Amino acid sequence: KQTLPNLGITVRKVDPSDPQNVAKAIDKKTKPVFIETPANPTLKIFDIAALARVAHQRGVQLAVDNTFATPYFQRPLQLGADIVIHSATKYIGGHGDTVAGVIVGKKEFIKRARNEVNRDIGAVISPFNAWLLLRGLKTLPVRMERHSENAMKIAKYLSFHPKVNWVSYPGLRTHPQHELACRQMDGFGGMISFEIKGGKKAGETLMNSVKLMTLAVSLGDVDTLLEHPATMTHSSYSLEELHEVGVTEGMVRLSVGLEDVNDLIDDLSQALKKI
Ligand SMILES: Cc1ncc(COP(=O)(O)O)c(C=O)c1O
Repeated sequence: KQTLPNLGITVRKVDPSDPQNVAKAIDKKTKPVFIETPANPTLKIFDIAALARVAHQRGVQLAVDNTFATPYFQRPLQLGADIVIHSATKYIGGHGDTVAGVIVGKKEFIKRARNEVNRDIGAVISPFNAWLLLRGLKTLPVRMERHSENAMKIAKYLSFHPKVNWVSYPGLRTHPQHELACRQMDGFGGMISFEIKGGKKAGETLMNSVKLMTLAVSLGDVDTLLEHPATMTHSSYSLEELHEVGVTEGMVRLSVGLEDVNDLIDDLSQALKKI
């Protein structure tokens, strides 16, 4: 909204569910097409291979934010993407104690990112934070398996709950892009979004009623984190902007942790009773 226009970069937002929308938005000045899949916080899935084809046909690179899936569950470069980014603050660090990022791409591109952004602007990770990431990476596969297993059970539980309107989790057959998720991902990850009946007020009640889960805006932690996008991560958005990014007032985002899943379901159950 601000940073890129301040740098003289025009951003065009299009819905990448249909790669033709992206194709139409590319002009002579377009540099990268940037997508996030699964998307935050809707958990929509976009077709990396199809979008890479559309971008390449027009001589443009495809960059993918792979934070939610992690390299354990999704490898965009193998699907045709050119650049991959991760907020390593999330699953790669894995313990909610580090702020870091990763950019993956061809040597020349990384050289420029390192020299022009890291060195000249100063986005440099501290040695201790780098060490925390390396330590986190050692358990990434086991953590992701457990995040995913717990998330699937919670998504199923929520989808039958009378106070829940809908659940968005790529592992559910009811997810509109479930088949695509099966094709391009090896697992579905630990992120779920769902809508509770009663809008914003119900969202706030749920946030204030959980006991085991932590109310926090980050994600990818060993602990389960719960947040209400309309009043937290997206509180600066107007109603129109919320609608544009698919955030409803009763939407809740859950980053499922590594706890015993029955304890998590018990916690959600007692909190949903308060609504
Ligand atoms: C998908 C995704 N990408 C990037 C970011 C930005 O991460 P960081 O805060 O580590 O810069 C976030 C943060 O929430 C995110 O969820």
